[in-house]
Amino acid sequence: MSENNAISEHWGKGDVYAQIISALEGAGKNLDTLTIEELGPVDHYHVRGFTATVELGDQLPIMSGQHILDIGCGLGGPARYLAHRFACKVSGVDITTAFVDAANKLTSLLKMNDRVVIQRGDGNQLPYDDSVFDGGITLHVTMNVSDRPQFFAEAFRVLKPGAFFAMTEHGLGPAGSPYYPLPWSEDGSEAFLVTPEDTEAFLEGAGFADVKVENTGEEYLAGYRKALDLATQGALPPLGTHLLMGDNAPAKIRNAAHNIEERRTHPIKVLCRKPE
Ligand SMILES: C[S@@+](CC[C@H](N)C(=O)[O-])C[C@H]1O[C@@H](n2cnc3c(N)ncnc32)[C@H](O)[C@@H]1O
Repeated sequence: MSENNAISEHWGKGDVYAQIISALEGAGKNLDTLTIEELGPVDHYHVRGFTATVELGDQLPIMSGQHILDIGCGLGGPARYLAHRFACKVSGVDITTAFVDAANKLTSLLKMNDRVVIQRGDGNQLPYDDSVFDGGITLHVTMNVSDRPQFFAEAFRVLKPGAFFAMTEHGLGPAGSPYYPLPWSEDGSEAFLVTPEDTEAFLEGAGFADVKVENTGEEYLAGYRKALDLATQGALPPLGTHLLMGDNAPAKIRNAAHNIEERRTHPIKVLCRKPE
């Protein structure tokens, strides 16, 4: 199996949209009046979820009418949130076929097709012209990216001069290999963590300037601990990203927490920009 197919198979299995609809109905949501906030627990696929996307939005200089790119957009939660909050247009691209399909159906459900367009594609070979986007994000994607210089070079290529670029990821900590399974890999295959220092160097190597790296380990640890408590009590909510992680979701959540505690992973948020 190619690396890209292996990543797609890992993330999206079966009819993801049907799974989410069933969970929404189980949670008593009215699909005709569904809001971005109601969908938020499941379509922002990182442990701090909707809250983390809102906090990131607070730091982004997006203006109404601008065109933003979300690389590895998953189910499209962050893309729809930014489009709604800033009245901008967002293009999303993701390698996982089942997620792209679900993302577009969720966008239709929220009647946002005029502002959010999601297509299948690889962040290492973006299907866009040069210098078209006013800003770009990639949230918890790069843990699966083997060639960071290529991935960042592509992001740089499609951004306009002066555009911002924001990313979040689990970097490699100083204490050795992470425990698996984790949300992004069952056993370490297709997992390519690098240290925050290397990420910063790769971004600068691609041409990005003003690279600011923030350690988000404590916030993520709190998020995983909360999820782990709920999983241990058998009290995970009907709607949540654990639905997408498979039967071993509790083990993935537990390992993610232990890896941060033992400094095997190092979650970060990075903001930078393409020079004018
Ligand atoms: C943890 S999910 C995050 C999804 C989304 N960014 C969010 O925050 O809700 C990781 C996503 O990265 C995508 N991905 C991994 N490698 C990719 C690549 N090379 N190009 C595009 N998408 C990729 C996966 O398919 C998956 O949807």
